[in-house]
Amino acid sequence: ARTPLRSGAMKISFVTALVFLALGLTGCGKNESAAPAASAPAPVEPRVVEITGNDQMRFSVDRFEVKAGETLKLVFTNVGMLPKQAMGHNLVILRKDANPQAYAAAALRAVATDYVPADLSAQVIAATKLLGPKEKDEVTFTAPSEAGDYPFLCTFPGHAALMKGVMVVK
Ligand code: CO
Repeated sequence: ARTPLRSGAMKISFVTALVFLALGLTGCGKNESAAPAASAPAPVEPRVVEITGNDQMRFSVDRFEVKAGETLKLVFTNVGMLPKQAMGHNLVILRKDANPQAYAAAALRAVATDYVPADLSAQVIAATKLLGPKEKDEVTFTAPSEAGDYPFLCTFPGHAALMKGVMVVK
């Protein structure tokens, strides 16, 4: 049978081992986390661009400027009261060589995808969801690297004639 003294000595050495193990793990952890932090690039905070759409079928802006290649967060809000089925809004930014009228015409057929045609996705730089009254959507994207005028529009049927503008890349 074990003597109390022997048992106590074993406990002490076990605790000592745990302490050394803990110190060793902590030391390793510090070294490992320090190395990548020093070389990692600073996180890019997107610049926020806020645009609204209303029951008068108007965007709050018809032009906004961005810097080539910058990270943007488009925050789009439908500030209207009318039901989505009657006055839904989205905001779709197209490539500068895209034809917004042709895109809007194709969008009429894309009922199942909320008037954003899947077969023309190559023409789209950024697109919000189709929003009902008081709804909001956010889209984070990288501005094109090429300067120029990039058209944007609402693709809800009949809206693109009034709800249109340009994102100017400088
Ligand atoms: Co609209």
